[in-house]
Amino acid sequence: MMYIIFLGAPGAGKGTQAANVAQELNLVHIASGDLFRQALEQRTELGIQVKSYMEKGMLVPDEITTSMVLERISAPECGPGVILDGFPRNLQQAKALDKALAEPAKSIDKVVYIKVSEEELLNRLSGRWICRNCQTPYHAISSPPKVWGKCDKCGGELYQRPDDTVETVKKRLQVYFAQTAPLIDYYTQAGKLLEIDGEGSVDEVSRRIMTALSRGLFVAE
Ligand code: AP5
Repeated sequence: MMYIIFLGAPGAGKGTQAANVAQELNLVHIASGDLFRQALEQRTELGIQVKSYMEKGMLVPDEITTSMVLERISAPECGPGVILDGFPRNLQQAKALDKALAEPAKSIDKVVYIKVSEEELLNRLSGRWICRNCQTPYHAISSPPKVWGKCDKCGGELYQRPDDTVETVKKRLQVYFAQTAPLIDYYTQAGKLLEIDGEGSVDEVSRRIMTALSRGLFVAE
């Protein structure tokens, strides 16, 4: 059983790369943001609880997020292992995850930290479109769908996330640097961090990640 975390700023390419690697390694891809967006679409109780936090670019409270993710990880289909994308997002969540995994004597194997310049993050987020149905991300310039407005994988409608506006992206970046970036040190000290240069094409970044994962390196290429 393998546990891999994808860490990085908003727009770094976590969702894009986590989906590729999950397919390659036959792991289940769990994205906390996708789970929240599905709940919002379906107008569930969870969706109502998280709406205002997401709209403002703030983190959803830990007790809601952590219990949602831990419940998902313990599902039978996660047996072969999981890729966590967007979780943990602060030290409290990281410690809660370590504690939950320690009980059945498991632990995080690797943390893939995708590093991208702030300028490129803004480019990526301003051109992003995602599938309303399966959440696959596209980019208007770097990875457009074959038919404009429709998902290549499921034919679902593409839309721009309401939290990808300039103002909310600024807030999400502030939250990232204040609360999530300290996890880089946390996992470096644990000897688990793989720092990956996230600039370049999707395929180039995928190759760097697969090489680093397969070699088990703990430094950037
Ligand atoms: P979440 O959905 O996790 O958003 P995020 O972390 O801000 O990350 P993004 O989804 O914006 O970016 P990404 O790194 O996945 O990039 P992507 O692959 O799409 O969270 C949203 C909200 O939910 C949070 O603000 C919070 O409210 C809540 N939340 C979620 N998790 C939480 C938690 N653990 N605790 C508390 N609250 C939580 O790529 C971006 C774009 O770039 C796409 O258009 C893509 O096509 C393009 N692209 C990707 N790679 C490349 C490349 N190499 N070259 C060119 N373009 C590329």
